[in-house]
Amino acid sequence: MELLNLLALSGSLRKASYNSAAINALQELSPRHVEITIGDISHLPIFNPDREGENIPELTTLKYLLSEANGLIIATPEYAHGISGPLKNALDWLVSGAEFPYKPIMLINTSPRASHAQVALREVLSTMSGNVIENSCVTIPLLGSELDRNGILAETKIATTLAEGLGIFCKEIELLETVTL
Ligand SMILES: Cc1cc2nc3c(=O)[nH]c(=O)nc-3n(C[C@H](O)[C@H](O)[C@H](O)COP(=O)(O)O)c2cc1C
Repeated sequence: MELLNLLALSGSLRKASYNSAAINALQELSPRHVEITIGDISHLPIFNPDREGENIPELTTLKYLLSEANGLIIATPEYAHGISGPLKNALDWLVSGAEFPYKPIMLINTSPRASHAQVALREVLSTMSGNVIENSCVTIPLLGSELDRNGILAETKIATTLAEGLGIFCKEIELLETVTL
């Protein structure tokens, strides 16, 4: 089996973030032929199109990781019915690059009540020509659970949902890559 590289981004900068915890747990749950790299969007400057030609090391790293990735995983909180600022900022920096279009994407929603951000995120991603693999997207009830990475791994139902979503995502990527070969 070919090695699959996946890039995962959390839209939360909070230390005890459920979204970051979900991504950390997913990294542990990934099968042997799947490597999940967790990207850092916390040090990107605030998006300014005037700066797009500048050498911004954090952006260069993010773009490199994305270009090397077979797929992208995003977990974001909802703030005031919108996508988190740090995630939207990162996506804005990626809009004009060649790395993003047609990238398969899996979404993780850590709060069943947070529907607005998920809708808004899908709109942004489709505008950027991302390929959201809908049947791989998962919603897990982490809000208020106090679960961290290890707690998620210990909760069989939640861990299984994450692992199944990832399994579908990887299969879909493999299928897409076979078709485009
Ligand atoms: C300022 C603020 C606004 C929020 N607005 C919403 C909201 O509109 N809808 C919602 O479902 N949750 C909202 N929340 C709850 C967060 O989405 C929730 O705390 C989430 O777990 C944060 O993600 P994290 O745990 O990964 O940091 C808000 C939280 C904060 C601090």
